[in-house]
Amino acid sequence: MITQKKMIRNIFILIISTVALMLIFYNGLIERNYTIYTDKLLKNQSMRVVLIADLHSHIYGKNQKEIADLIRKQNPDLIGLTGDIADDRVPIDGTELFLQAIKDISPIYYVTGNHEIWSGELDYIKDIFRNYGVTVLENEYERVNINGVKFIIGGVDDPAIELYKENNFDWGKAVYQAFLELEEKPGYKILLSHRPEQVDIYKNLNFDMVLSGHSHGGQVRIPFLVNGFLSANQGWFPKYSGGVYEYDNITHIVSRGLSYNPKRPRIFNPPEVVVVDVIGTK
Ligand SMILES: [Fe+2]
Repeated sequence: MITQKKMIRNIFILIISTVALMLIFYNGLIERNYTIYTDKLLKNQSMRVVLIADLHSHIYGKNQKEIADLIRKQNPDLIGLTGDIADDRVPIDGTELFLQAIKDISPIYYVTGNHEIWSGELDYIKDIFRNYGVTVLENEYERVNINGVKFIIGGVDDPAIELYKENNFDWGKAVYQAFLELEEKPGYKILLSHRPEQVDIYKNLNFDMVLSGHSHGGQVRIPFLVNGFLSANQGWFPKYSGGVYEYDNITHIVSRGLSYNPKRPRIFNPPEVVVVDVIGTK
C-alpha cells in the first residue's frame, strides 16, 4: 500500500519531470534581447534592429501572424534578415507569407544563406525579396537615417556564392575589398553576414557590429554548461553557436535562428526573434 508520504513524493517527482520536459523541448517562439552600448553614438541616440535568421520557410501561425506580431511589437527601426530565410528543400510559400506579413513594419535588409544559394534559383529568390520591398545586399552597403542619425548597413552573400563564381574566387578577399572605403565614412556601421565562423574576416572590416545566424544554436544546449553541441561548418561544440561576442573593434551577434525541423529537435534551444538595441554613451 502506498503511504501518503510516498504519494506526495511521486506527485512532486511527476510535476518536476513535467516542468523539466516542457523546458527542454519548448519550441515556441521566444524574444531574445541584447543591449549594446557604444561611444560612437551620443547619449540621446539609439536604434533597434530585429534580427531574423534561418527561418527555412517555416510558418509560425496562420499566414505567419505569430512571428509578424512578435516583430511588430518590438517597433524596430529596421529588420535584418541574415540568410536561410528560404530553403532549397522547403516550398517558398512560408517565406512569401513572412515577407507579406512584415513588409510594412520597418525597412528590411536581406543577405543570402547557403540554402538559398544551394537552391540553384538564387536570382528568383532575391527577386521575391525585392518584390516585397526588401533591400538585398550583395557585398554592398547603404546609408540609413534612423531618428535623424546616420547609420550604415552592409551585407554580404553567403560564401556558398562561390558556386556561381570562377574557380579562383576568394570570398574573404571579395568581402574585404567591398567595404574598404567605409573606413572614411562616419556613422555606426552594421554588417549582415550569414556565417558566424567567418569572424576573423569581420574583424578586419570597417564595421562596428556584425549580425549572423547559420548555427541554429548548436541544436542541443545545456543552459549555463554547453552553448550548443553541433553546428554546420563548426562541428562539435561550436564556438559561435549563439549570443554576443565582443572583440576590440566589433560586436558580433549570432542568432540561434528560427529553424523548425521535427527530424532535428531543438533541445533547450527555442526558436528566437533577436532584438538588438544599440544605445549611445557619448
Ligand atoms: Fe545556413
